[in-house]
Amino acid sequence: MDRFEKNAIVLALALLFFFFGLVVYAAKALQIEVPTCLTGVNPFQEGRVIVLDEGAKRYQVNLLARMWNFEPYEIRLPAGAKVDLYLTSRDVVHGLRINYTNVNLMAIPGTVSYARVRFDKPGVYSIVCHEYCGINHHLMAGKIIVE
Ligand code: CUA
Repeated sequence: MDRFEKNAIVLALALLFFFFGLVVYAAKALQIEVPTCLTGVNPFQEGRVIVLDEGAKRYQVNLLARMWNFEPYEIRLPAGAKVDLYLTSRDVVHGLRINYTNVNLMAIPGTVSYARVRFDKPGVYSIVCHEYCGINHHLMAGKIIVE
């Protein structure tokens, strides 16, 4: 085998292990979770905010996407809120993006998507639909107010 060929293979393997190590580091040390589509959770019919633990600022948000808004439209949370976010759609496929966070989910009818997010800074976080869902797609928005 050619020396350059050998070097290329060694380099490729080293990079492979390096990037795999970064994935493990992100998952274990940084606790970064990939947004997931849950199986075994029934889609809900209405959106609401559930207080799981007031003292620990833990909340569950059931967000319902539909033509052409999010329910609830406006969510108020205290600064430092840790949110388990569940998302579903009542009609067609919608998207969900929460500004200033890394939340980016799809709302698919009949399924529930999940992400965990923490709101440390007070302010208004707008929610937008990023999947074309009909004539009023561009108006489909909501907001989270962190106080
Ligand atoms: Cu909902 Cu676009």
